[in-house]
Amino acid sequence: MELRHLRYFVAVAEERNFTRAAERLHIAQPPLSRQIQQLEEDLGVVLIEKGVRPLRLTEAGAFFLAHARTLLDQVRDLRTMTQRIGKLERTLSVGFVASTLYGLLPDIIRRYRERHPEVDIALHEMTTVEQLKALKEGRIDVGFGRLKSADPSIRRIRLREEPMVVALFPGHRLAGGAGGLRLTELVHEALLVYPKAPRPSFADQVLAAFSEANLTPEHVTEVRELQIAMGLVAAGQGIAIVPESVQGMHHRNVVYRPLDEPHAVSPIFFSVRHMDRSPELENILAAVYAVYDDHGIAHGGEKL
Ligand code: BEZ
Repeated sequence: MELRHLRYFVAVAEERNFTRAAERLHIAQPPLSRQIQQLEEDLGVVLIEKGVRPLRLTEAGAFFLAHARTLLDQVRDLRTMTQRIGKLERTLSVGFVASTLYGLLPDIIRRYRERHPEVDIALHEMTTVEQLKALKEGRIDVGFGRLKSADPSIRRIRLREEPMVVALFPGHRLAGGAGGLRLTELVHEALLVYPKAPRPSFADQVLAAFSEANLTPEHVTEVRELQIAMGLVAAGQGIAIVPESVQGMHHRNVVYRPLDEPHAVSPIFFSVRHMDRSPELENILAAVYAVYDDHGIAHGGEKL
C-alpha cells in the first residue's frame, strides 16, 4: 500500500463519486478505479459497496477512511515541520483574531522579540476557523483564537477566559450609569454580531451567552468583522458585545460598559500542530505567561 492509495481512497470517499474524485485528483477515472481495486485486493477486503449509488462505504471502508485521514494529516505535518527545522533562519508565523490586537497581543509580540531577536515574526489576522486550516497547511505555526475545536491534529491550550463587555454609542440610553449591564436589558436592542462567516465564530459565543440566560435578542445583524461592528456602533446603528480587550481600540464615539453576567466570557486558545514541539512555540507561550504575570492575570502555566 502506497500513500497515493490513501489519497485516492479519501478523495473517492469524500466526493462519494469516482468522476468528481478523479477531477479533484487531476487524473482520469479508469486509473483511479484501478488504484482503488488494487487497494481492495491488497487488503483483501471490500471498502466500497458494489453497485450502490450514491457510493457507500462498507464498515471496513469507514474504518479505513478515518485512519487514512489521520495518516495523511501526519504526513503533511511531518513535511511542514521537517522543512521548518531544516531552515537556517528561524521564523514564526502567528495567526490571531482581531480583538487580541487591541489587548495583549502587541505586548506579547514585543516581549518575544526582545528575548528572541533572531526570529522573524509574521502576523496574520484571521478567524479561529481560518487559523485551524492555516495551521494544517503550514501557513501559520501558532494561532491565538477564541473557539474550541475537536480536531485531533491540533493541540490546544486554554490560556484564559476574557469577560465580555458592551460597546455603545455615547448618546445611547444605556451608555451612562454605573455598574454592569444585564443581558435582559439588551434583548430589545439592535445587536451587531461578528464575524458573519466562517462559522462557528465569536458571533455564536455572544448568541450562546443570551441563550444560556434563556434570552433571545430580538434584532440581530451579522456583520463581516469587528471593525465594521465598531464603526456601526459609533454611528449609533446598534450595540455590540465584545471581549474586554477591544476597549484598547479607543474608538472616538464608542463607550464600554461591563456585563454583569459571570457566564459571558470568551476563552483565548493557543493552537499549534499536534506534533510540533519547536522551541519557538515554547518561547511564545512563555512570553504569553510573562505578560500575564506583568498584568496580574491568573493562568495555569500549561506547557506544550
Ligand atoms: C490574551 O489577551 O490573553 C492574549 C492575546 C493574544 C495572544 C495571547 C493571549
